[in-house]
Amino acid sequence: MFQAVLFDLDGVITDTAEYHFLAWEKLAKKIGIEIDREFNENLKGVSREESLRRILEHGGKANDYTPEEFAAMAKLKNDNYVEMIQAVSPKDVYPGILQLLQDLRGQGIKIALASASKNGPFLLKQMQITEYFDAIADPAKVVASKPAPDIFIAAAEGVGVDVSQAIGIEDAYSGIAAIKAANVLPIGVGKAEVLGSDIALVSDTSQLTLDFLIEVWDNQ
Ligand code: BG6
Ligand code: MG
Repeated sequence: MFQAVLFDLDGVITDTAEYHFLAWEKLAKKIGIEIDREFNENLKGVSREESLRRILEHGGKANDYTPEEFAAMAKLKNDNYVEMIQAVSPKDVYPGILQLLQDLRGQGIKIALASASKNGPFLLKQMQITEYFDAIADPAKVVASKPAPDIFIAAAEGVGVDVSQAIGIEDAYSGIAAIKAANVLPIGVGKAEVLGSDIALVSDTSQLTLDFLIEVWDNQ
């Protein structure tokens, strides 16, 4: 039996992946770059700075800004995003997630957050689920962001469980790559076209039951 579950946040625990997209879309538009939902798949799970780098490259503006201007744009996006998430509340926790957290806790299975977002702790607080998390890996302290394994390794370490005894749950391509690289067992929330057909997948979080996780673990 697995001993820990390492959760991504945006797009797994709640719908903030959508807010990230809307905030980036607004910033991009301001500097004359169009981004769509297909391109946005390349931003999911990716750090704030790397997301901005990808947007500028996408718009052919990779070399147009000074480091100060780059930092100001990243801040503007975050200010906008932070404004959007002020209204997040317990009712925004995705279907099935609260029950899963309760069931994991009931079984003594450790729970950790492995999100690239520096807004993670605030969002857990807004949704009133902080108490379920035995550890929150700090994205500011990891060397390389997803698809590197660092944040999942840090999350497993945070709960004192070996990576080989953990399940990781992700909605992003870069996140699944990070889970695999960390030697953690992945479960994807989303489509095989995006996340790959070689891993366990659910189409929505209501399917993320303790029984389903046990089944995936036993069949690996
Ligand atoms: C990830 C999101 O969880 O966190 C990305 O999927 C986001 O879209 C990244 O860029 C960093 O988040 P933040 O809140 O620190 O800018
Ligand atoms: Mg995500």
